[in-house]
Amino acid sequence: MRNYLHIHNIHKDFSGLQVLTGVEFKVQEKERHAVIGPNGAGKTTLFNIISGKFKPSSGAILFKGKDISGKPPHILNRYGLSRSFQITNAFQELSVFNNILAGVRSRYGLRYNFFKKPNQNREICEKVDAIIKEVGLTDVKDQPASSLSYGQQRALEIGITLSTEPELILLDEPTAGMTREETNQAIKMIDQVTAGRTLIIIEHDMEVVFSLASMISVLHYGTILVSDTPEKIRNDQRVKDAYLGEG
Ligand SMILES: Nc1ncnc2c1ncn2[C@@H]1O[C@H](COP(=O)(O)OP(=O)(O)OP(=O)(O)O)[C@@H](O)[C@H]1O
Ligand SMILES: [Mg+2]
Repeated sequence: MRNYLHIHNIHKDFSGLQVLTGVEFKVQEKERHAVIGPNGAGKTTLFNIISGKFKPSSGAILFKGKDISGKPPHILNRYGLSRSFQITNAFQELSVFNNILAGVRSRYGLRYNFFKKPNQNREICEKVDAIIKEVGLTDVKDQPASSLSYGQQRALEIGITLSTEPELILLDEPTAGMTREETNQAIKMIDQVTAGRTLIIIEHDMEVVFSLASMISVLHYGTILVSDTPEKIRNDQRVKDAYLGEG
């Protein structure tokens, strides 16, 4: 079986600070892969490299056999890869609808002739509405992003990630700062919107990780301590010592 995504020997340093020192793991198509590890372990840095925001100092990101390392995010979008951000990325003054519309339009490659193509216009509006429904924001679709509750902002962030119809989705701590109830809702929503897609999720909340993930990689001191099934990870003494603790 060909690897769908192969994170190969990734190193990253920031002016002498070595953050990633040979990160290596594989993700198969349609897998739900969680990346866990302590604060400052380098998880977001790894996402920044996979999603094209940063170039690795060395190593390669192979997506369906092709080296995509160093390619900018808009090119990666075209390959079918899309990410969310740990801190929300929405345009605060724009409505929910217009935030999603911006992403859907970029998928269609439209520029300024948007209103001159009524049929395509309708098709796009239907897509936007469908995504808004998927992430549960229909009731607030005309409100500016800035007026949304915290949980709704995170849902919008996921909607923006979905707007380019990606096959590989990267979510960086989608439930961070949520109440238990918001988190439970978010788990259900993420489960639904990522069905049939490949998911890589960074998450500290172990309930989220164990509800969603089919594989888990533990990032610790710049390398992958272990990459295995949730069952194996739960019982791995090294993981308990390094991260999960007694609980
Ligand atoms: N652009 C940057 N320039 C310099 N140092 C950076 C940069 N981005 C991240 N770092 C450093 O890299 C290390 C890893 O940070 P990163 O944000 O990747 O960790 P993380 O695992 O996502 O942590 P958290 O769980 O708190 O989100 C930290 O020491 C951080 O200060
Ligand atoms: Mg982070």
